Amino acid sequence: MKVMVIGSGGREFAIGRVLKQDPAVCEIFFAPGNGATPMLGTNVAIKDYEELALFAVDNGIDLTIVGPEGPLSEGVVDVFKAKGLVIFGPSKAAARLEGSKVYMKNFLAKYGIPTARYIETDHIGDAFKFIDSLTAPIVVKADGLCAGKGVIIAMSHDEAKVAVSEMLSGKSFGDAGKRVVVEEFLDGYELSMFALCDGKDFILLQAAQDHKRLLDNDEGPNTGGMGAYAPTPLVDDIIYEKVKDRIVRPTLAGMQEEGAPFEGVLFIGLMIVNGEPITLEFNVRFGDPECEILMPLLKTPASELFYKAATKQLNTLKVEFHDKYAVGVVMASRDYPYSNSEPAEIIVDEIHHEEIARNTHIAYAGVSSEDGKLYATGGRVLVCVGIGDSIKEARDRAYMLCGQVHYAGKKLRTDIAYQALR
Ligand code: AMP
Ligand code: GLY
Repeated sequence: MKVMVIGSGGREFAIGRVLKQDPAVCEIFFAPGNGATPMLGTNVAIKDYEELALFAVDNGIDLTIVGPEGPLSEGVVDVFKAKGLVIFGPSKAAARLEGSKVYMKNFLAKYGIPTARYIETDHIGDAFKFIDSLTAPIVVKADGLCAGKGVIIAMSHDEAKVAVSEMLSGKSFGDAGKRVVVEEFLDGYELSMFALCDGKDFILLQAAQDHKRLLDNDEGPNTGGMGAYAPTPLVDDIIYEKVKDRIVRPTLAGMQEEGAPFEGVLFIGLMIVNGEPITLEFNVRFGDPECEILMPLLKTPASELFYKAATKQLNTLKVEFHDKYAVGVVMASRDYPYSNSEPAEIIVDEIHHEEIARNTHIAYAGVSSEDGKLYATGGRVLVCVGIGDSIKEARDRAYMLCGQVHYAGKKLRTDIAYQALR
């Protein structure tokens, strides 16, 4: 099978890596890929989706997997399907679950899916009235995509009102903030769950926990995610069943009713409050770095899983996972998340201990290559992944690998998976 992966991050590297190990896959393309994806396949520098679909037709690509949200919201899946290609990801219409927080919250409310109490409005008076009915902290969200920065946790009513005013006036996020969601603060622990969906059936992967803040002890600014682990012991079978019954099944049924059946990865951002899973948000793609730790836990060949998901055959698949844990530690560049840093050469020391070498690997993200050398080009540079029989073992292996990776300005958290280990 020939497979193309759309995207350029560690998430797409991780998908390519499991495809590379899959005997059913003979060739892998990345569009556009990054400086390290040529280790796994061929980078394709075509930006236009029509042209990319023609490339897929001309090259006999059997399956395309879309990593990031951008191309999904822009309708890449619709373009590929119009040419009769097999592609895994939601249509433009279904991708609205992530693209608009207002759409998502109204969808959750319409189908009775548990979520924080909220108001969505473009009217400042209504927003203020709702704020006054809540106790602080209060959560204020811009409607549109703001690169992960559109959520303010206000510690007082006044702070919430300032956030709303700045969003509605267009001051903070331009048009993306001209409608807002104000909602109650949920106090619990946060998890990421991923349901691979084919419009009707789904497979729920193991629950993962991300670490969004830049610094240890969950301090510092929000980031795309500084590390993750799975499966998390913070979830038991009862919570899995609740997530399936109360969130995934009604979402799939609801999206069918809306005329936009959901195919692709439903990323459920969850808050577990007193044992009850509450939906914080939906994304329509894998999380990054969650994907980097979930892919190596898959025992079922990735090509089979994604192909069946893309061709409405998930009901014929019994997915299997390795009975292991995975921990991924993100290594970022010096100025992350504020700005890109100067490119810095990456040196990876060889690991001589055979068992550790076998149970660790790197998923590359923000890297370029020149003359056979890899350079950190800013943002999240790579993820060091450790696999083990316990979270502690996996974590220790991941950190051992981190110690072998060198570049100027390397930055990482030292406490990934702490909630599972305390
Ligand atoms: P979102 O983009 O909606 O996932 O929000 C970004 C982050 O803000 C989440 O990952 C949570 O950590 C936090 N957050 C969002 N909504 C709430 C809420 N209602 N209660 C508590 N924390 C929240
Ligand atoms: N790691 C969270 C995300 O990908 O949005």
